[in-house]
Amino acid sequence: MTYKDVYAAWQSDPEGFWMEAAKAIDWDVFPSKALSAENAPIYEWYVDGMVNGCYNAVDRHVERGRGDQVAIIYDSPITGAKSETTYAELLVKVASLAGALRAKGIEKGDRVIIYMPMVPEALVAMLACARLGAIHSVVFGGFAAHELAVRIDDATPKAIIAGSCGVEPGRIVPYKPLVDGAIAQATHKPDFCIIFQRDQLRADMTPGRDHDWNEVQQGVTPAHCVPVEGNHPAYILYTSGTTGAPKGVVRPTGGHLVALHWTMKNIYGVNPGEVFWAASDVGWVVGHSYITYGPLVHGNTTIVFEGKPVGTPDAGTFWRVIQEHNVRSFFTAPTAFRAIKRDDPKGELIKDYDISCLRALYLAGERADPDTILWAQRVMKVPVIDHWWQTESGYPMVANPLGIEQLPVKIGSPSVALPGYDIHVLDEAGHELPPNTLGAIAIKLPLPPGTLPTLWNAEARYRKSYLTTFPGYYETGDAGMIDEDGYLYIMARTDDVINVAGHRLSTGAMEEVLAGHEDVAECAVIGVGDELKGQLPLGFLCLNKGCNRPHDEIVREVVKLVRDQIGPVAAFKLAVVVDRLPKTRSGKILRATMVKIADNQDFKMPATIDDPAILDEIRLALQPLGYARVQS
Ligand code: COA
Ligand code: AMP
Repeated sequence: MTYKDVYAAWQSDPEGFWMEAAKAIDWDVFPSKALSAENAPIYEWYVDGMVNGCYNAVDRHVERGRGDQVAIIYDSPITGAKSETTYAELLVKVASLAGALRAKGIEKGDRVIIYMPMVPEALVAMLACARLGAIHSVVFGGFAAHELAVRIDDATPKAIIAGSCGVEPGRIVPYKPLVDGAIAQATHKPDFCIIFQRDQLRADMTPGRDHDWNEVQQGVTPAHCVPVEGNHPAYILYTSGTTGAPKGVVRPTGGHLVALHWTMKNIYGVNPGEVFWAASDVGWVVGHSYITYGPLVHGNTTIVFEGKPVGTPDAGTFWRVIQEHNVRSFFTAPTAFRAIKRDDPKGELIKDYDISCLRALYLAGERADPDTILWAQRVMKVPVIDHWWQTESGYPMVANPLGIEQLPVKIGSPSVALPGYDIHVLDEAGHELPPNTLGAIAIKLPLPPGTLPTLWNAEARYRKSYLTTFPGYYETGDAGMIDEDGYLYIMARTDDVINVAGHRLSTGAMEEVLAGHEDVAECAVIGVGDELKGQLPLGFLCLNKGCNRPHDEIVREVVKLVRDQIGPVAAFKLAVVVDRLPKTRSGKILRATMVKIADNQDFKMPATIDDPAILDEIRLALQPLGYARVQS
């Protein structure tokens, strides 16, 4: 079958297509129908099916003879640790931790927050929750206590499972004090915590509340899998929106199992038993879908990599891992390749390794710039597949479906819509735009199985954020165009979300932190171009009248504030003090114009600008930071 055949098969019978795909999953009760449209425009899939995510990711492989196959390879160049866990061993570990959670009162539907570094125990914790039908919410380790507290108050977890520390180049990050700080800040208090103690830094325990990972499992009865409804939330994953309050994306169990399984062969081209590697973090959607659930549900071997593309120990780390573990498909963010290219521009280090086992490289999470794609193709000699998706979708919406057929690559485009996705480019009034015309990217409802049916405890926000602007469509928040061959091009976000090293961040959240500084009267944060990370946040501060403290002191303080409140992952290091911000006559800050000035791009003077002279002040303020350098 060609891509066109598969897409047409879906178009002609979407429900039949997804019922067929559902057969790859082991259900306790097979669903009688695919789509439930009673509450349109809120749609759900496989509602009357009964299923367990952990059973599909672990138990069934052991029952069918994959017990001795390695399920998880742990490779940690940053600590020097390596291990392998077979499916049979994984089953024992997951059933045991689930037994401990159950013994402490965790039941189906309870929330559990997981705050772990990249160790196999992070996957064990996720799967143990899935085993019980508990809803996990993994929080990325680079977020600070305040962000964790916000998630605790929104998800109201009964338990928190955390590692004692993370290991970053040159420093140990103590996680436990962040957990303690978050619980102190949060209004909601979890009943208990389970702490995985790492040798690099052991955590102090709060008696009565905190339990050691190993001790809490002693003498417990291993837990069986609890079947849940097809639309039962498997997890909540918070992602950045326009405001400081993160959006709790809900992932429905049945749809996510079916869709992830479908992608493993059709997009990533791997067969069960082969090694699949996503070099991301379990705290992001890529980690949920393609470190944990996708490869395991499909019977692949997954890799938990604790390290960086460069510096652990060098820019050859990725090649070493691919060779050593016989990786077939590899997935990472373009920024990782920009880092490698910067350290080893000629690709010398790859010559020390044999990566002929690899079939393709997949890039996502941010725009893949042509230079990076061409460089990767040249040094790796495999197809480089850019593909486009979001936390909300949970898996690719647009890709070159290598497992079906390799379509011609058009550099700069993640290629074509996948089955399930009917993608349109609309103008502001919601009218379809002709090919090659820039507009808002929207997807005709219903979205396919596995995509978000709502936001946790926030259906009104879900409707407002995604369903209201273009009735009958899901608004992606991305702008772009489709060419005459159906290839999509992603150009920009339509909201205040920026993408820093493949991490999705809210400038609104950073503005809220800056506004909290006692000397700041008004502020704005924009994303400026960066060669390595794609974008970097940059803050503009207007100070209170009469404040005559040195500007560099205030800048240092706000940088620290963002690091303490949002976390190091925000990479907020640039800020300038200005007298005024450019605004429209109605008072709206002209952030997009400031971005253009910073990045030296041409722009049209906004017709509604209040005072054009302010733009020159902005340009002058940016120049000492290396931005807004007007070319002569
Ligand atoms: N726990 C605690 N701190 C963390 C962390 C974690 N899990 N992950 C990152 N941080 C910290 C880093 O130590 C760094 O702190 P610093 O400001 O003190 O240096 C900060 O957060 C920013 O981290 P990072 O984005 O990793 O930048 P970097 O400069 O350390 O490395 C790259 C640059 C390009 C090598 C790195 O961004 C990278 O590997 N990117 C790949 C992106 C990726 O996998 N994205 C997932 C989506 S597919
Ligand atoms: P996240 O939810 O963190 O996965 O971020 C999703 C956003 O990242 C998308 O809405 C896009 O803005 C951006 N993005 C993801 N993949 C790509 C891609 N292949 N090309 C361009 N932008 C991308």
